[in-house]
Amino acid sequence: MSHMQTPPLAPASPPRRSGGDAGAPLGDLVPGAVGPRRSVPASIARPEYVGRDAPAAYTGSHVTDDATLARMRVACRLAARALAAVGDAVVPGVTTDELDRVGHEFLVAAGAYPSTLGYRHFPKSLCTSVNEVVCHGIPDSTVLVEGDIVNVDITAFLVVDGAPGVHGDTNATFAVGQVDPVSERLITVARECMERGIDAVRPGRRVNVIGRVIEKHARRAGFGSVREFTGHGISTAFHSGLVIPHVDSAPEHDDVIEPGMTFTVEPMITLGPPTWTMWDDGWTVLTADRQRTAQFEHTLVVTDTGAEVLTIA
Ligand code: MF3
Ligand code: CO
Ligand code: CO
Repeated sequence: MSHMQTPPLAPASPPRRSGGDAGAPLGDLVPGAVGPRRSVPASIARPEYVGRDAPAAYTGSHVTDDATLARMRVACRLAARALAAVGDAVVPGVTTDELDRVGHEFLVAAGAYPSTLGYRHFPKSLCTSVNEVVCHGIPDSTVLVEGDIVNVDITAFLVVDGAPGVHGDTNATFAVGQVDPVSERLITVARECMERGIDAVRPGRRVNVIGRVIEKHARRAGFGSVREFTGHGISTAFHSGLVIPHVDSAPEHDDVIEPGMTFTVEPMITLGPPTWTMWDDGWTVLTADRQRTAQFEHTLVVTDTGAEVLTIA
């Protein structure tokens, strides 16, 4: 059993299933126990969707005004710092719920609300996606062991001086201790895919150029890029409705990139085919073949000549 649901006295190094086609361990993850909802002091402003089934439709512009952008810079920097703090806590023997605690407490201590907590009833303050989990893993009693990889996706919602609150969204995939070379390569290529997608951002181009370069880079490495989970516009809304594809989706997703647009680029890269299934929890997305997958995410603003990443610590 490779993922125990109660912490062992010492980190275990359990036997694993034999490797997948690409040479990294095949996954055997099972849902753990989800702990109680963490509380946020009443003094911290919540996004409008908390306590509702779904967010209100966003009707604003995809170009973010300067005052909103200034607030986003603060939220994005906070999210980046929170991600780094959680990353420092990724060690063999830690539970994904403990990572949730670290991220939650970091954001709350800074006066921010963890955007995922209560988003469409998501129960935790960040997402932890282990090994074959593509995205939206729910932190639980799962114990990370040496050789695992885990993506941590954290979003900060911040209200500054009573102005409309803004979100900053970022994620990264971390190695738990020493990992096999194929998983290392997967993590590297996933990061490169995000970086190349960001580098392709230019005013006047269509957003589908981003997916085209991401998918190309993944394929050159022999990997896949998941189509159905995309980047998104972000500002006062967590997901504004603007879709940023991670595969070549032309002629769809032909929105023209404009200076001042704020959106995420967050490709999910798979060792095997980029096809997936979902657990009954309605959130956890896994590769269909249980081979590993990795993701990186930044929030950016479009400049006159390219993109500026906002989720930098
Ligand atoms: N942070 C994720 C994103 O990049 C969204 C997570 S929504 C949740 O868009 F409900 F799953 F947490
Ligand atoms: Co996002
Ligand atoms: Co995110």
